[in-house]
Amino acid sequence: MAKADLSVTLAGVRLKNPIVPVSGTFGFGEEYGQFFDIERLGAFCAKGLTLRPRVGNPPPRIAETPMGMLNSVGLQNPGVDAFLEREWPRLQGLDLPVIANISGDTPAEYAAMCEKLSGAGVDMIEVNVSCPNVKAGGLAYGTKPELAAEVTKEAKDHAGGTPVMVKLSPNVTDITEIAKAVEGAGADAVSLINTLRGMRIDLNTRRPILKRNTGGMSGPAVLPVALRMVWEVHNAVKLPILGMGGVTNAETAVEMLLAGATAVGMGSALFADPMAAVKTVDGLADWCAAHGTTPKELTGGVLPWA
Ligand SMILES: Cc1cc2nc3c(=O)[nH]c(=O)nc-3n(C[C@H](O)[C@H](O)[C@H](O)COP(=O)(O)O)c2cc1C
Repeated sequence: MAKADLSVTLAGVRLKNPIVPVSGTFGFGEEYGQFFDIERLGAFCAKGLTLRPRVGNPPPRIAETPMGMLNSVGLQNPGVDAFLEREWPRLQGLDLPVIANISGDTPAEYAAMCEKLSGAGVDMIEVNVSCPNVKAGGLAYGTKPELAAEVTKEAKDHAGGTPVMVKLSPNVTDITEIAKAVEGAGADAVSLINTLRGMRIDLNTRRPILKRNTGGMSGPAVLPVALRMVWEVHNAVKLPILGMGGVTNAETAVEMLLAGATAVGMGSALFADPMAAVKTVDGLADWCAAHGTTPKELTGGVLPWA
């Protein structure tokens, strides 16, 4: 069986295959390096960074759900400067594009992080717009088209040519409105979906299991929602998509490509099996060879009923 060409190009960045561990589930790539050669992946999104270090939310901040999980980690991270000082020198030498993920409370914070990260030479910046905008009364930047556009423009203006990918929240009525707004503001790509807001309750204490009461849901249970949103966004904008949400193996990765993704993110699946991403790379190679196709050809290839 001839080997399929698995390479894809996402916002001008060449990935040797479309499989990308997603932000918050792969740390800064160090721990997984003990299990496999991380250069076998297409790229990876680093843990979400903020301008200053954050300790995150109090525990419990993880709860199990049927076929998924809830988390309220709260962007625990060492801050962008510590990332550049302690992690970037090791990551910079890898034959693997590294995507830095950033969150801010104000457009100025996004701008400052974009300047630092693009100056250091990260391959792509993923702008997480799920953070509250203090001025707009805590409303997440990703829930209003004009706020999402404002942050996108600010990031682009300060990214010095480094591709900017905006990570969309699924907690909106119409995700295509936000996608169109960030496309208009100059985004180079979009990634979706971030987690869906959810809750679980302990029957004995009658308290929510998570200390923050609610959290973000991810894992296999969200796959149909993610596929629907990727498909809608693919039909609404021209931007390439890093599609994620519930992907666990080659078959679900192919579904994500068919829905319209150019590359495919995997997160919660790695907690169940640290090898899940490389197994998916191998499985995708076999699947493409067996079907005489490539990831590039699969993107957007779903044949919807009339
Ligand atoms: C424990 C945990 C931490 C996360 N942290 C971040 C983060 O820092 N920034 C971000 O943009 N998304 C974060 N996410 C969301 C994931 O990147 C991804 O969008 C979501 O989990 C859906 O993919 P999955 O079903 O494959 O896990 C986190 C998810 C989990 C489970």
